[in-house]
Amino acid sequence: MPNTAVGGGRNTKILGIESSCDETAAAVVEDGSRLLATSLLSSAAIQAQYGGVVPEVAAREHAMAILPVVDWVLREAKVGLGDLDAIAVTQGPGLLGSLLVGVTFARTLGSALHLPVIGVHHLEAHLYANALEEPIRFPSLALLVSGGHTSLFLWEGHLALRQLGQTQDDAAGEAFDKGARILHMTYPGGPQIEKLAGLAQRKNLRLPVADMHGRLDFSFSGVKTATQALYDKHIQEPEEVAYALQDAVVRALIATVRRAWQQHPVKDLYLAGGVTANGAIREAFAHLGDSLGISIHIPPVSYCTDNAAMVAALGYYKWQAGDRMGPFEGPKVLFPLGQEGD
Ligand SMILES: Nc1ncnc2c1ncn2[C@@H]1O[C@H](COP(=O)(O)OP(=O)(O)OP(=O)(O)O)[C@@H](O)[C@H]1O
Ligand SMILES: [Mg+2]
Repeated sequence: MPNTAVGGGRNTKILGIESSCDETAAAVVEDGSRLLATSLLSSAAIQAQYGGVVPEVAAREHAMAILPVVDWVLREAKVGLGDLDAIAVTQGPGLLGSLLVGVTFARTLGSALHLPVIGVHHLEAHLYANALEEPIRFPSLALLVSGGHTSLFLWEGHLALRQLGQTQDDAAGEAFDKGARILHMTYPGGPQIEKLAGLAQRKNLRLPVADMHGRLDFSFSGVKTATQALYDKHIQEPEEVAYALQDAVVRALIATVRRAWQQHPVKDLYLAGGVTANGAIREAFAHLGDSLGISIHIPPVSYCTDNAAMVAALGYYKWQAGDRMGPFEGPKVLFPLGQEGD
């Protein structure tokens, strides 16, 4: 019999499924922290031909990938379908067609195996990549910097995130992706901007950082426009422009987090999301940690971008809390997190 009890689990095995954007991923995680296996198929190389994610292409690739990805991960984990205790799936936010593949798969498998299905929030899951490293310490600050979001939270306990601020326009990842397009590079732009910025010598071009007037928010749409203007002037030095873009994102993130810490002087800061794979960002936050005397936690690079281990990790805490998807619940394309009324 699968273990459907609410409460503390022992060797509770959760299958995580992620399909919110262009990565089809599955993982098996035990007790929310021990990763038994993880697998991922990305359609990023196909999407690169179009300069960004085409929703229909993403959904089609998910539909083709989901069965082999799950089959592979269960074999790798040496876990049979009958050994699973629950299935956690990204319920949103994300692209409708992409989410539908993962959610429909999870619900169908859950129904066939009489297993609880837990819908998780993709952004909250990003933060739970940190739980795969060591137990999360509360209260803490949590900064999510991804392709579609840049949000800062006070993390008060498991499943208790209070949003302090967010981007007012573009996400930091979009600034990298759009900046890369200006510099004639393909999607996803972040890793390529980082590589190009690494070749910069002079490092003296500056892009403006938006003044948030003391609020704990971010704004990156101006950086994109300013990158275009800077590149038009320095077309022979794309590496210096890439460096300036990366540096502007770093300065914006650090300034807001420093301000947040002054208001909430916690001992731990957790980072997550694809953009935190960036070496300059990791380094800048390590320095910030030293200067504030706090611990900075960032997942390994491979768990910064989309993956299913983070989904299974969060799923465990929701499983413990008795949180299950209702019989008529489906994907949530728009899905606020940690805001008033949640
Ligand atoms: N080394 C890097 N430097 C900067 N940005 C990076 C790096 N690696 C990845 N990124 C950026 O991370 C983003 C992808 O991250 P992630 O997978 O977390 O986002 P997403 O899942 O598309 O969006 P969201 O999680 O908000 O729905 C892209 O914008 C990509 O350019
Ligand atoms: Mg993501």
